[in-house]
Amino acid sequence: MIFDILTLVLLLLWFAAAIHFIATLIFQVVRKSTSPLSSNKTAITETAKILSQHFSDKPFTLIDIGSGNGRTAIAIARMFPQAKIVGLEHNPHLVAFAKLNAFLHRTKNARFINADAMKTDFKKLKPDAAYLYLGEKQTTPTGKNLLAALPKIIIISNKFEIDGVRPKQTVNFNSFVNGPLRIYKS
Ligand SMILES: C[S@@+](CC[C@H](N)C(=O)[O-])C[C@H]1O[C@@H](n2cnc3c(N)ncnc32)[C@H](O)[C@@H]1O
Repeated sequence: MIFDILTLVLLLLWFAAAIHFIATLIFQVVRKSTSPLSSNKTAITETAKILSQHFSDKPFTLIDIGSGNGRTAIAIARMFPQAKIVGLEHNPHLVAFAKLNAFLHRTKNARFINADAMKTDFKKLKPDAAYLYLGEKQTTPTGKNLLAALPKIIIISNKFEIDGVRPKQTVNFNSFVNGPLRIYKS
């Protein structure tokens, strides 16, 4: 009898340790896979409006530079099934998470690549448009690189501006980490 109770206690302890291990593992993966800042619903809706104005229902390729967990790229891909969306992200955990996210949302027109925006040859990706929501210091060099490399690119920057380049249009909305959206063209 005493042995049965001891076995049961040991089994329960082992079970609790296993649950703790699995929960910690899931937490670490989710923590590493979640962007610190994301585009909110307004930023995505306003970006979709801008893309509709420019491309209507024509096919186009949009590159989401700093695609994080893929939220924006997947939302845009679902709204524009005729478009090809490429998410570019330097954090491999986020790339894996975005791929899983796209699979779970059955989104076939969004793909994700692990690359550094500061070292990417954007010409090879042949984008018609770019959504640019990187850190402040990376926005200007990346934006200027895009404008110089691609003669017909439309850039929609969220939050940070491309210093020294006048936007063609600005969409203002009140949010702490999002907006305004600025539209640049080469
Ligand atoms: C503000 S989040 C935007 C996430 C996503 N685009 C969205 O709209 O929700 C910026 C993302 O850019 C990524 N990032 C920062 N510097 C980068 C770089 N040099 N190359 C590629 N990705 C970068 C970060 O890892 C982060 O996921």
